[in-house]
Amino acid sequence: MCGIVGYIGPQAAAPIILNGLRRLEYRGYDSAGICTVDQGGIEIRKRAGKVADLEQALHVSSMPGTTGIGHTRWATHGVPNDPNAHPHADASDTIALVHNGIIENYLTIRKKLVKAGYQLRSETDSEVLAVFIGMLYEQTGSVEQAVRAALGEVDGTFGLVVVSSREPDVMIGARRGSPLVLGIGSGEFIFASDASAIIAHTRQVVYLHDNEMAIVHRDGSYVTKTIGNEATVSAIEEIEFELDAIEKGGFDHFMLKEIFEQPNTFRDGLRGRLQLEDGNVRLGGLESVRDALRTAQRIVITACGTSWHAALVGEYLIESLARIPVEVEYASEFRYRNPIIQPNDVVIAISQSGETADTLAAIREAKMKGATVLGMVNVVGSTIARETEAGVYLHAGPEIGVASTKAFTSQLCILTQFALLLGRMRGLGQLEGRELAKELDAIPAKIQRILERVEDVEAIAREYASASNFLYLGRGVNFPVALEGALKLKEISYIHAEGYPAAEMKHGPIALIDTNMPVVFVATKDDIYDKIVSNIEEVRARSGRVIAIATEGDTHLHSVANHVIEIPETHPLLTPILASIPMQLLAYYIAVQRGCNVDMPRNLAKSVTVE
Ligand code: M6R
Repeated sequence: MCGIVGYIGPQAAAPIILNGLRRLEYRGYDSAGICTVDQGGIEIRKRAGKVADLEQALHVSSMPGTTGIGHTRWATHGVPNDPNAHPHADASDTIALVHNGIIENYLTIRKKLVKAGYQLRSETDSEVLAVFIGMLYEQTGSVEQAVRAALGEVDGTFGLVVVSSREPDVMIGARRGSPLVLGIGSGEFIFASDASAIIAHTRQVVYLHDNEMAIVHRDGSYVTKTIGNEATVSAIEEIEFELDAIEKGGFDHFMLKEIFEQPNTFRDGLRGRLQLEDGNVRLGGLESVRDALRTAQRIVITACGTSWHAALVGEYLIESLARIPVEVEYASEFRYRNPIIQPNDVVIAISQSGETADTLAAIREAKMKGATVLGMVNVVGSTIARETEAGVYLHAGPEIGVASTKAFTSQLCILTQFALLLGRMRGLGQLEGRELAKELDAIPAKIQRILERVEDVEAIAREYASASNFLYLGRGVNFPVALEGALKLKEISYIHAEGYPAAEMKHGPIALIDTNMPVVFVATKDDIYDKIVSNIEEVRARSGRVIAIATEGDTHLHSVANHVIEIPETHPLLTPILASIPMQLLAYYIAVQRGCNVDMPRNLAKSVTVE
C-alpha cells in the first residue's frame, strides 16, 4: 500500500525522505516521488518505478530544502506512470500533497474543478484533492483552513501530508481510514505511514486517530485537532521495536530472516502468558472481557488472507478445546451480507498490520450490531488494535516481507492460548490443559529443529522450481495449512497453487493429476493418518509427484512419497504450527530459484488499506 513520509526541521529534507521511502518499500508500490519546499517555491520529482530508480534518474537526494514530502504509490485510480505518481500539486504549483487512500467522490469534485476552469494533469483522485485544496486556499488564505475545508467535503479514506511554499514553516498531516504516525524529534518532525520510517530519527510518536489532523511548525511546536477544528489530546508513545528488527541482518531476504525468527517470535508470544503448572493461560488484554468470554454462545472470527487461514485453525482449536461454536468469515464479505450477530456473540478480528481496510470495516459492522469485538493484532497502536474493545498483541515484531510468515505462527500461538484459556473456563481439565501447555512450550525448540534441516527443503525446491501448478492437501486442522502453503507459493513464485481438504481431491481436483503435478501433503501421524496415506496412494497411482510433510521417524511414508520432509512429533492440535514452516521454506526457495522478488512480489501490498 502507499507509503508516506514528510519532514520538517533543520536538516536537508530529501535524504531523510528518501531513506524513509526505502523503509516503506516493503508495503508494496509501483511509483515514487519527492517534493521539497525551498526559496519560495516547491519542486517535485517523481516517476513510475522503484525508489532506487527515482534516485538514479532524478537525483532526488540533492534536492534543496529542509521541508518536504515523499510517497511510494500503489496504484488504485490510474495506471502506474509518471504523471500519476505522487506528490501532486495544486494549479498554482505552491501546494503539494502525498495521499494514501481513496477519495470516493473525486469525480464530483473533479467536475466542480473543471467547471471552475481548473485543468488536471493526472488521472488520480489524489491530484483532484490537491487542486481542490488550492482552490479553497484562494478563498481562505490559509493552508490549514483550506485542508480542513477540503477534507470536510471528501468521502473516502486518506492519510495525507500537505506542504506549501506559501507557508514553508508549516506541515499538515491528516488521516481517516489510512494510517499516519507523527514522529516528534528534537526540533524536527517526521510524518510516516508507519513507524519503520521514523525510528531512525526518534522513538517518540503520536498515532493520529481517524478524522484527526496534526499541524507541525518549524519552531518545534505542534497541535492536533479534529478535522472539524476541535482540539484533541494526543498521547506520545514510544516505538517498541529496535532498528535492527527492520533490517535484514545478514539474510538475503526479509522473508528468510522472518522464517528464521520464528523460534523467538513464538516464544515471545508465550512469555508471561502460559502457565505450565496450572495448564492455563493468562491474557492480560482480555481481563476486561472475561465475563463476555465465559458466557459467549458463539465466536465469529474475521480476517483476510493468511490471517484468515490462522482463523480457520482457530476454529478447530476453540471448538475442540472449549466446545464453543465458531464461524470464520472473510472480512471482505462480512459486512455485505448483513451478518447475524446475537447478544452473546464475541467477534475476533485477526490482523498482522491492524490496518486492513476490510477487517476494519468488519469490526465496525460487528460493533454496530452489538457484539463484543476483540483483536489479535501484531502492530502496536494500529487502528484495529485501537478500535477493538480488548485484545492480545502477537509480539512478532515488525514483519517486512510481504508474504506473512512469523505473524502466521504467532497468530496460531495466540489462538491456541486463547482456546486453552476458554477451554479451562468451560470444563477442560487441568491435566489436559497441562499437556497442551507443555507441548506449546516445546514448540520453539521444535521449530528450531526444522530450521536446522533447511537444505533438505532447498533441494526439493530446486527440483520443482519450474512447475506450473501445485496442489496442497491436508485434513482436519491441517487443511488450513494446505491453504496457507498454496497462498505462500502463489504470492512469491507466481506458480498457480490450490489448497484442498485431502479427501475432496477425488471430487474434482484428481482430474488434474499427472506427472507434472506436484502435490504437497500434510501427512503427520494422527487419527486420520491412514486416510491421508490412502489419498497419497491415489495421487501416486496417477503418476503425481508427492512431497509429504511427515512426523519424524515415519518410515512408511518414505516408500510411498517422492520426498519426505520430517517435522517433530507434537500434540495433533499444534501440528499446523510446525507443518507451516517447511511450506514457507518451500515457497521461499522455489521463488528464489525462479528469480522472483521475494520480499516485494508483483502487485501485492503488505497492508491492504483500501477495500
Ligand atoms: O495485515 P493483515 O493480517 O490484516 O493482512 C491480511 C492479508 O492481506 C495478508 O495476510 C496477505 O494475505 C499476506 N500477503 C499473506 O502472505
